[in-house]
Amino acid sequence: MCGIVGTIGKKDTLPFLLEGLGRLEYRGYDSAGVAVLSGNEIHIRKSVGGVSQLVQTVNEQPLRGSPGISHTRWATHGEVTEENAHPHLDASGRLALVHNGVVENHKHLREELIGRGHVFRSQTDTEVLAHLIGEAFDQNSERNRPALIHAMQETLRHVRGTYAIAIIHADLGEFLAAARSGSPLVLGIGKDAQFIASDAVALDGWVDDVIYMKDQDIAALDGESFHLATVSGSAASPPKLRKIELEARATGKGRFAHHMLKEIHEQPETLREAMKGRLDLEEATARFTGLHRSNEQLRDLKRIILTGCGTTFHAALTGEYLIESLARIPVECDYASEFRYRNAPIDPETAVFAMSQSGETADTLAALRESKRKGALTFGICNNVFSTISRESEGGIGLRAGVEIGVAATKTFTSELVILSMLGLMLGRIRDLSHSDGEEVIENLQSLPDLVARTLECNDLIAGIAAKYSKTRNFLFMGRQANFPIALEGALKMKEITYIPATGYPSAELKHGVIALINEETPSIVLAPQDDVFEKNISNIEEIKARRGPVIALGTHGDSTLRSLCDETILLPAAPVFLTPFLNTIVLQLLAYHTAVALGCNVDKPRNLAKSVTVE
Ligand code: AGP
Repeated sequence: MCGIVGTIGKKDTLPFLLEGLGRLEYRGYDSAGVAVLSGNEIHIRKSVGGVSQLVQTVNEQPLRGSPGISHTRWATHGEVTEENAHPHLDASGRLALVHNGVVENHKHLREELIGRGHVFRSQTDTEVLAHLIGEAFDQNSERNRPALIHAMQETLRHVRGTYAIAIIHADLGEFLAAARSGSPLVLGIGKDAQFIASDAVALDGWVDDVIYMKDQDIAALDGESFHLATVSGSAASPPKLRKIELEARATGKGRFAHHMLKEIHEQPETLREAMKGRLDLEEATARFTGLHRSNEQLRDLKRIILTGCGTTFHAALTGEYLIESLARIPVECDYASEFRYRNAPIDPETAVFAMSQSGETADTLAALRESKRKGALTFGICNNVFSTISRESEGGIGLRAGVEIGVAATKTFTSELVILSMLGLMLGRIRDLSHSDGEEVIENLQSLPDLVARTLECNDLIAGIAAKYSKTRNFLFMGRQANFPIALEGALKMKEITYIPATGYPSAELKHGVIALINEETPSIVLAPQDDVFEKNISNIEEIKARRGPVIALGTHGDSTLRSLCDETILLPAAPVFLTPFLNTIVLQLLAYHTAVALGCNVDKPRNLAKSVTVE
């Protein structure tokens, strides 16, 4: 989703602005733009397409100056055009603004502005902000830096929706202002320059110290010092300076053709990292220091709600099976977008886990806030532990998966699964789970990285199957129990990066409608490990074969039934049943990846998708 990068204090801001935008490409976008103050004029360049197009435009029409702001736009209001790309100017043409978020009441505000004679150049909601702030500034006889902050406060109080914004003004020289509410923004504080960005990844190498802005914060930067205010005018809480996280640094592709492939192969390591120091063999349990709750407090819980979006929601659904079986505590899963508006009964004996790789997903953040309001205990499960969800939760668990650049989530999904397994273990051990059962779970979890590494050895087999079926027009994915959500995730991965329609469902649902889709051209991918429901899956495969549907089966080493029945068989290392979702996930990630490669799709930046969905 939109990315903001800005800086002040460097003689020439362009190298940082363009490099920073490049590092935010993973967020997903369709156009880009940059504005710098040169002399006492603001100069803007924009282009549709990638940052490389913007670099070309800037090479053809060079820019130099400070301060500067830049932006990658993921279209929400108005088509993908240069006019709609950011930065946007106010009516005077002296103020330039970039925005990430959505101004929900933009129509009403726009009509009011038009009534006062304003003329708009774009269809965006953002341009309304530029005009409103510019107008409020121009009406203030002082026309100085405090006047701009005041104009921002006055305007932002009337804005409904979410925003992270950055502003420069031709009359204010070395001055850059920024504000956030609902969309992330981080400040980089250097000795002779200051920076802003939507994600600390953009700041790595330019600055060591960062400040994560809070909702309603306004920052005023002059290149040497900074000042924080708030939209309401009340005093801002003292800023916390943090060292930029090391994990923000590993952003290369290494020996892999794509970030996604690299991230798939990192999973033995990321799983190890997620478990490191959290498994206690002596007590046969797991420990999460970030939950900040005693065993007694956690034992009082009567219900758990797991909420999130997309891939993370599928992890939550898998977690329902894992936690209920280990801890015997009722678990509910809800899409965050539904949960936030559903008047769900919540009480202090309910714990809500807001799950999000980015920690910035707008719906998940809103679900967290709604749960807090209603008195639930709230926890975050996030990869970015400095994200808004992490910071606003009462306690939390970090995924420790490292930065995930591929838009399609892979390693963070399995990290979420392992965290939920450990959570089930921990909650089980303070309830009914015996010491010996706890020990067995730990031993099994410790074998997981190796099982995943062995599963990755199927890469070439999967690539061959992917090439063979890449012209398929429709895929069906099915599984049972904890492998049912994995079928949903497999279908989502396939859709996201290959654009082939794919449907996931519980195998038993076949007869209840989906069977109508079975024919010679529609492959079914059946997750059929050796478990209690293996025979049931075999019956489903028989039903598909009876209708001449091709079947690609994922089973367990040594299985001969699947081989004799199915068109393609991928046999995986024998594993405890609760670990089979992890291994099946690896195969489905690789299957989607190789299909996308065979089709020539842009694997790391699929069309229309954003890595971090910071608007509703
Ligand atoms: C994953 O492949 C998707 N890009 C998407 O479904 C994602 O999982 C969803 O937007 C939630 O993101 P989050 O985990 O950062 O909250």
